[in-house]
Amino acid sequence: PRKIIIDTDPGQDDAVAILLALASPEDLDVLGITAVAGNVPLALTAKNTRIVCELADRIDVPVFAGCEAPISRKLVTAEHVHGKSGLDGPQMTDPTMPLQQQHAVDFIIETLEAEPANTITLCALGPLTNIGVAFQRAPHLMEKVQQIVLMGGAYFEVGNITPSAEFNIYVDPEAADIVFKSGIDIVVIPLDATHGALATQPRVDAFAALGSRVGTMVAEWTSFFERFDKEKYGSAGAPLHDPCVIAYLIDPDMFDGRFINVEIETTSELTLGMTVADWWRVSGRPANATFIGSVQSDRFFDLLIDRLARF
Ligand code: BDR
Ligand code: CA
Repeated sequence: PRKIIIDTDPGQDDAVAILLALASPEDLDVLGITAVAGNVPLALTAKNTRIVCELADRIDVPVFAGCEAPISRKLVTAEHVHGKSGLDGPQMTDPTMPLQQQHAVDFIIETLEAEPANTITLCALGPLTNIGVAFQRAPHLMEKVQQIVLMGGAYFEVGNITPSAEFNIYVDPEAADIVFKSGIDIVVIPLDATHGALATQPRVDAFAALGSRVGTMVAEWTSFFERFDKEKYGSAGAPLHDPCVIAYLIDPDMFDGRFINVEIETTSELTLGMTVADWWRVSGRPANATFIGSVQSDRFFDLLIDRLARF
């Protein structure tokens, strides 16, 4: 199995992504989960991450809290999508498993230092602050990363937090800029792909039909999350953005993309956080990321249901 660190801001879709990873030990070895401020403030994302580990019966997975705010901006959150707790929907009790004492950034640095080069994959499901800060502090570790697979950005589907930017990149464009300039092998899963991974009613019913606690929670989370997209965009269900990152690691063939140049807008007020993706290769700038354009959604949901059924 591939060794991964999941960096996350749960978030209902983050929660489903974590469950998918923990359900897939033959593919993925989750070394630790690092929480970052994003959808909701850090105290809540760190708490929610532990709620999900407990739900998966995996209190052995170390959970770390990271950065409370973006590198040089005020935190923007998304309670309008995820609710006040970040995991609104079902009834939940507070977690009892402890948070690690170590800071998430120190954990990322220490793990990359300790493990052989090209053996650690970073899975980024929220703003890129923790990862950006780790590389700011220890730039020599960039070349040790095997791959970064991240949910963020948009091209044809443009923005979901501003007309031109996707939430994760918009919240911390400076961190994203560090990552995209790092020279690491990067796979970007933007809204273009994730808006194809919709939890439609039959799919939500399939989660519920699993008949387990995990199945019920996932059904309730996706139903809550769906309300926003349905009302706002008239979409047929909640986009399961972040689980696409984990699905990519398990079965990359269900995704289609292009290796192109992607730059992050960090100065313009109007287009701050935009992923300027050179889809048609017109800029002459060197390619630095595999930018995913689509996912085979039935294949994605088959995998998700199949793995969640293990709980
Ligand atoms: C991203 O932003 C968050 O709201 C989701 O968890 C996802 O990571 C989608 O733009
Ligand atoms: Ca997220």
